Amino acid sequence: MVFTIMVFEYLLLLFQVVVYKNKMKICCIGAGYVGGPTMAVIALKCPDIEVAVVDISVPRIAAWNSDQLPIYEPGLDGVVKECRGRNLFFSTDVEKHVREADIVFVSVNTPTKTRGLGAGKAADLTYWESAARMIADVSKSDKIVVEKSTVPVKTAEAIEKILTHNSKGIKFQILSNPEFLAEGTAIQDLFNPDRVLIGGRETPEGNKAVQALKEVYAHWVPEERILTTNLWSAELSKLAANAFLAQRISSVNAMSALCEATGADVTQVSYAVGKDTRIGPKFLNASVGFGGSCFQKDILNLVYICECNGLPEVAEYWKQVIKINDYQKNRFVNRVVSSMFNTVSNKKIAILGFAFKKDTGDTRETPAIDVCKGLLGDKARLSIYDPQVTEDQVQRDLSMNKFDWDHPLHLQPMSPTTVKQVSCVWDAYEATKDAHGICILTEWDEFKKLDFKRIYDNMQKPAFVFDGRNIVNADELREIGFIVYSIGKPLDPWLKDMPAVA
Ligand SMILES: NC(=O)c1ccc[n+]([C@@H]2O[C@H](COP(=O)([O-])OP(=O)(O)OC[C@H]3O[C@@H](n4cnc5c(N)ncnc54)[C@H](O)[C@@H]3O)[C@@H](O)[C@H]2O)c1
Repeated sequence: MVFTIMVFEYLLLLFQVVVYKNKMKICCIGAGYVGGPTMAVIALKCPDIEVAVVDISVPRIAAWNSDQLPIYEPGLDGVVKECRGRNLFFSTDVEKHVREADIVFVSVNTPTKTRGLGAGKAADLTYWESAARMIADVSKSDKIVVEKSTVPVKTAEAIEKILTHNSKGIKFQILSNPEFLAEGTAIQDLFNPDRVLIGGRETPEGNKAVQALKEVYAHWVPEERILTTNLWSAELSKLAANAFLAQRISSVNAMSALCEATGADVTQVSYAVGKDTRIGPKFLNASVGFGGSCFQKDILNLVYICECNGLPEVAEYWKQVIKINDYQKNRFVNRVVSSMFNTVSNKKIAILGFAFKKDTGDTRETPAIDVCKGLLGDKARLSIYDPQVTEDQVQRDLSMNKFDWDHPLHLQPMSPTTVKQVSCVWDAYEATKDAHGICILTEWDEFKKLDFKRIYDNMQKPAFVFDGRNIVNADELREIGFIVYSIGKPLDPWLKDMPAVA
């Protein structure tokens, strides 16, 4: 009997070793907004694959291994809890996991260059290059290397050169698999993507690598939604998609200025425009401007690539999308200041919302930064409330130089100086108490349900609301007594008398 049990246990162990040995291993370099959620979903949907997410940032990995994940994303907690320790691992042992992996995703920062050739536009590939060199250094077996970061067209070629010139006979296949998830709906987008795009070399080895990655996604993505292209089309498609999305926002925001000047209502105009099936209704909301880590960076990058390829007219066309976005943020600040008797000096302004959109704590390139800086420039006192953004983050954002945010955490400047006229509170009522005006900068659902009568009673008069996301019912607020500015809507008589020049 004992002998039978021992034999059984031995066979079980042997079986586990064989299965474990044959298990495909994926490693993702970069445990950020893309690497973390993407890999968590791959681990959930592919229990037969072992997934390791690695990063040079020790605090970030510690957070992924804790109950307080480093990023807020609806549904992410549940996915991570289900897989972590089973087939999903977070580690700082970058080299070990890269060495063992069959497929290595690279999802590291690709910030805008701040110095040298292409400064202010081109992508800085320092982190990508160092990841590629490390992959070449530590690898002992053939690997598929997947670009997950958004990169300039032809990056794969450069990466290929680094890998092959340092390969010691090991074979690498480079694939481009750009990520289209949107923050705030990342898990939903990953579960049910509009498309998965895989670009590879058009050679037998390249096709084999594309097929291997396709099989990973095929665990849950219908085949017709997995698109395969050549490498350059995949790289450019990501930049193009972001440019088109940002362009829609700038288009409707440009219309919002014209609506205010003519008495048209931008919501009615965009509804009417969006009913045309060739245009469609999505991404047509006027606002204080777009933000987030990608749109501006990717368009700047696109502009740079156009310039390098001798296409100045095309570059100029896309540049305009960013110019309108900056114009919209300036216009908003000017509206606030001009409405309040042309000065906000020493006035308390409540800022409701700091994240670049609802359902995320991400503040990278949020329009709130420029609006707050504009108001601080006019010496306002700001009281900021965002349900997901900490005071420390707000202070860092307001004192950081342009583009510094897009570097690994430990390389970002700490904020030695705190901006004194700024305080952060954990409640919208506290933020608006004794305020002269309110700026709504993020469309958090909870702001729609606030008791504005209570808020009005506790504010200085006249009390102003500047709705940068068109989420409040302006008529109801006017009934209460507020002077209301809603982007792109017919202007309050008060505001008409105080025009703002951008
Ligand atoms: N955030 C988005 O919504 C989104 C969507 C699609 C594509 N992208 C692109 O994906 C890429 C990553 O974006 P993100 O938002 O996840 O960035 P992120 O800053 O949140 O994460 C990047 C991570 O990479 C790590 N890292 C940098 N160099 C490393 C190295 N050599 N070894 C190990 N780790 C390293 C950093 O410490 C950081 O944690 C960017 O190219 C971005 O443009 C982002």
